[in-house]
Amino acid sequence: MAANCGFILVIMIMLTTKASADPDLLQDICVADLTSAVRLNGFACKSNVTAEDFFFAGLAQPGVVNNSVGSLVNAANVLKIPGLNTLGVSISRVDYAPGGLNPPHTHPRATEIVFVLEGEIDVGFITTANVLISKTVRKGEVFVFPRGLVHFQKNNGKVAAAAIAAFNSQLPGTQSIAATLFAASPPVPDNVLTKAFQVGTKEIEKIKSRLAPKK
Ligand code: GLV
Ligand code: MN
Repeated sequence: MAANCGFILVIMIMLTTKASADPDLLQDICVADLTSAVRLNGFACKSNVTAEDFFFAGLAQPGVVNNSVGSLVNAANVLKIPGLNTLGVSISRVDYAPGGLNPPHTHPRATEIVFVLEGEIDVGFITTANVLISKTVRKGEVFVFPRGLVHFQKNNGKVAAAAIAAFNSQLPGTQSIAATLFAASPPVPDNVLTKAFQVGTKEIEKIKSRLAPKK
């Protein structure tokens, strides 16, 4: 019950605070026409709008976590909810298996606030002064990852955990540090990575092969 109240509080704060990282809106609604070839800062507005454009049921159930990191993010952003276009908010659900990690990543366009639905997670972000700010966050509690800073969550518990993450952007963007450096296409040259990480080509190639997108 207390957990539900906390969740509602996070959503209310999100919706009532003028803290959007996205540009402000110039009209009531601008439901995204995801099929339009017109490229704007955001999406073109479509004309036939229904309640379905503002609705998404996809976060109701836990995601099936069956990957090597043990976590799954289900992002309800403008690509899933066209009505979010120009509104400057979005939301995700993250499910973590026991031991699961949401690997270090950043959101270039949003601050993130997470609310723990189930279990507990060890979270952290790193400042530009290279200071790690970390904490264990339990069911019903909230933690903030400032815009653009590298952050992660790890379920060190013996049971599954889940969190709801809210963002002040319709499309926060996610740049996973490991995938960005070791699974880019075309690849980041080995001699950039060997110098950056102070290791040999063999080590770099090993990481690249592990992170290569599965065919
Ligand atoms: C969690 O950090 C998320 O981006 O969903
Ligand atoms: Mn995040």
